[in-house]
Amino acid sequence: MTTASPGSFPTTRMRRLRAATWRRRLVRETVVTTDDLVQPLFVVEGSNVKDAVASLPGMARLSIDRAVEAAQEAYDLGIPALALFPVVDGALKDEKGKEATNPKNLLCRAVMAVKKAVPDIGLICDVALDPYTTHGHDGIFDGDDVLNDVTVDVLVKQALVLAEAGCDVVAPSDMMDGRIGAVRQALEQRGFFNTMILSYAVKYASAFYGPFRDAVGSRSNLGPKGKHTYQMDAANVSEALREAALDVAEGADMIMVKPGMPYLDVLAAVKREINVPVLAYQVSGEYNMILGAATNGAFDRAAAIHESLLAFKRAGAAAVFTYAAVEYARALQKR
Ligand code: PBG
Repeated sequence: MTTASPGSFPTTRMRRLRAATWRRRLVRETVVTTDDLVQPLFVVEGSNVKDAVASLPGMARLSIDRAVEAAQEAYDLGIPALALFPVVDGALKDEKGKEATNPKNLLCRAVMAVKKAVPDIGLICDVALDPYTTHGHDGIFDGDDVLNDVTVDVLVKQALVLAEAGCDVVAPSDMMDGRIGAVRQALEQRGFFNTMILSYAVKYASAFYGPFRDAVGSRSNLGPKGKHTYQMDAANVSEALREAALDVAEGADMIMVKPGMPYLDVLAAVKREINVPVLAYQVSGEYNMILGAATNGAFDRAAAIHESLLAFKRAGAAAVFTYAAVEYARALQKR
């Protein structure tokens, strides 16, 4: 097959395609709709609580009643799913993250309440121990490093209590090896055939998670190695393909690449290689940067958010976790 060679100037003038709004709309290759958005919410104990997160302007830690209202609002705006994260009372944290497997923990109660009030919104919950451990690691820490297989056993229990509570998508974000297969097997054995697994297969050890750790109170004392012995090295991309392929083989329905904007090359590579939906997370530090720059007058906030979400879609994301989901959905409605 021969392809027509592009003409040269002035036969071809690229600006013809850009000369009016309608022309640009007509030939646009990528769109962002509310269908593409997942709104993260932070849930805290209490009632009628809306406790602003200083490092995430516009985000708050919500008590379950307020989270239900937020879920209703997101649903009414057309957002398909929420990612719920618990802010766990310090008194309930321990070395092993035991509270993660309590079927009546805050997150399980939040899932039940939201599912009851807004049954048709999808609920996605992290499977990882960091909100529940005193040290803030995603697994069981022996004073030197996070233990893999021991942690996986606990993660399986955590995934099961979440599925039991009504969580639609369990999302292991811990980066232990072998956890997807273990979680999938347990879900099948317990009859949770329809519970999806969104694997944070490609999760980098990143500085960009800072504001999230403030929001859930997991920054604490990770130790000198930080999360570098389980989260990926920022320098690597072929390793991302191995991680994603392993998790698909183990039973992941969807794959997450995280962080987002600094890793769009990774997202595009994973999307090219892997035949499951690939999602991306515009993480807390990215959101903080956009809002901070907008507040400093560097650029227009809505335009920057729109452009960033387009970039995710262009790179191949099926959907984007973004703290700006509700704000963006409201802006779409006004257009
Ligand atoms: C926990 C988890 C983290 C984020 C989502 N789940 C932080 C971490 O791994 O330390 C970060 C999200 C964000 O920064 O917005 N496993």
